[in-house]
Amino acid sequence: MVKIFDANDEILRELSRILLKILEDKNGEIYQENVAKFGIPEEYARKAFFEENLLKLQNSGKAKFYLAMGDDGKTIMGFAQTIIRNEDTVELDRIVVFPEFTRKGIGTKLLQYALEETEKRGFKKVIVNAGKNEVHARKFYEKNGFEKIEEYTVHAPWGKKLDLVSYQYSF
Ligand SMILES: CC(C)(COP(=O)(O)OP(=O)(O)OC[C@H]1O[C@@H](n2cnc3c(N)ncnc32)[C@H](O)[C@@H]1OP(=O)(O)O)[C@@H](O)C(=O)NCCC(=O)NCCS
Repeated sequence: MVKIFDANDEILRELSRILLKILEDKNGEIYQENVAKFGIPEEYARKAFFEENLLKLQNSGKAKFYLAMGDDGKTIMGFAQTIIRNEDTVELDRIVVFPEFTRKGIGTKLLQYALEETEKRGFKKVIVNAGKNEVHARKFYEKNGFEKIEEYTVHAPWGKKLDLVSYQYSF
């Protein structure tokens, strides 16, 4: 069983520790699929998960973090992060289920929770960007009711060209 809830500062500190540890494993699935594949410099990826940066984001009031936790109340299985883009729109910035817990419906529960919470806050839509070749992520969003809006290419701040697809979920 899994419990989904809004992260507090203590959980974010723990999440930061876990994410920074995961990034140390350069051959691991998370590093390969989410960092190496997009050419993200290691320091750039690490910085995003520094405790102070996660806390700053959450406490800015613009971002929300949602956690998936095991029954034991200790095992973090995944998380989702949203950020307000404008008065109508929230972006799903990240959703990650750690590899040992994927394909058990946890991502869907996290996403549904994030959508419900966002709707309760009065927003009209959620957008998300996926890599054009990220077949698993695209399937995941499509299965969960997101509609494809457009394909486009961006130049990432670290100088790489990224082919992306944007999706939208409307309430
Ligand atoms: C994308 C992700 C969050 C999905 O989490 P999950 O807990 O495995 O998802 P679910 O078990 O709820 O899957 C729901 C549906 O999504 C699709 N899906 C999920 N993973 C898939 C995969 N590897 N290949 C194909 N389809 C997949 C399937 O349609 C699945 O339904 P099914 O299992 O009945 O076939 C997870 O794979 C992940 O964290 N990946 C690494 C990070 C990432 O890519 N995040 C998204 C981009 S930021």
